[in-house]
Amino acid sequence: MKILGIETSCDETAAALVEDGRKIVSNVVASSSQIHAQTGGIVPENAARKQVEYITPVIKEAIFETIDKKQKKSSHHKNGFFLSLLNSNIDAIAVTYGPGLIGSLLVGVEAAKTISYITCKPLIPVNHLVAHIYANWLFDGQKSIEEPQFPALCLVVSGGHTDLVIMKKHNNIKWVGGTRDDAAGEAFDKTARLLGLPYPGGPAIAKTADNYLKNQRGKLDLFPRPMIDRKNFDWSFSGLKTAVFNYTKENGIKDTKRLAAEIQEAIVEVLVEKSIRAIKKYQPVSFLMSGGVAANKRLREKMHSRISKEKLQTKLFIPSPKYCTDNAAVIASAAYFNNAPIPWQKITAKPNLEITDAYTK
Ligand code: KG4
Ligand code: ZN
Repeated sequence: MKILGIETSCDETAAALVEDGRKIVSNVVASSSQIHAQTGGIVPENAARKQVEYITPVIKEAIFETIDKKQKKSSHHKNGFFLSLLNSNIDAIAVTYGPGLIGSLLVGVEAAKTISYITCKPLIPVNHLVAHIYANWLFDGQKSIEEPQFPALCLVVSGGHTDLVIMKKHNNIKWVGGTRDDAAGEAFDKTARLLGLPYPGGPAIAKTADNYLKNQRGKLDLFPRPMIDRKNFDWSFSGLKTAVFNYTKENGIKDTKRLAAEIQEAIVEVLVEKSIRAIKKYQPVSFLMSGGVAANKRLREKMHSRISKEKLQTKLFIPSPKYCTDNAAVIASAAYFNNAPIPWQKITAKPNLEITDAYTK
């Protein structure tokens, strides 16, 4: 079964084709992050305007892979979007309907509804946060990768959300913990801005911190680790922003590399600590990381080393960085495993969806 996934919840415009929920046939992502770098963060209207521009060419490129070779050569297919759609052998369409920016979500949702209407193919609405988890099922190329087994404890760390959930099986998600205020990605983005680093802040801090960590073995404990001793699985990241603000106000920004390493360490340490404690409590078969922040090298390394150091039986899954950040392959995968088509007339964008909203019984 081939599903066309469409994703436009934030500043990416993405379309992908995925076969049987796992094998990536095509994966196209157009980002407008350069525009947001100029404004130091996302201006929602700017993001949506770019998505209106990108959506058709991005979907066209994604479906082009499925059209047979002879037809590909015809100029109709080079130019005709609807003809390509009608000739593509997709079985269903999947689209992010929330959470996200309303203007951005609408671009993808309306495009998907139109495609469902003209192709008469089913349309599956997908919760973006649940979809992030499915990065752990995806593979490209010929060789399959190991499939995560249930029950799975899942950490979703993105720009807008930080959630820890238990997945007993597909379509069954229970909330275990999450952030009380800012998301982990938001903490990276906001503190990066305070240091004068570009948007998106996560990769910028990671790169800057890397330069420091290469030569430095000392302790990194300048900033607080809120809630680390509390016996729950919650986080709080808004205090970090204040701590960095106060520190730079008092001391200036003399050593950006060290400060970046300190910020990264403060975020990574609390994420790892609570995740390890949750693994010990729930003893899941698999631990699945996902979301943009899961692309962070330090976080990936620390999770690996703690799991092996403590000899935990849980198998750790971390997707390749390109499937951690926003893409449409995860949307198509989630749709396959939770297959619940809805008549296109009934689908609306829901900007405030929670991770448990879509599939919890
Ligand atoms: O999942 P995602 O692409 O979009 C949302 O659903 O929010 O996550 C974006 C977030 C941003 O906050 C970005 O700074 C962060 O992920 N991020 C990273 C890294 N790559 C992206 N944070 C830390 N280290 C990275 N390498
Ligand atoms: Zn995301």
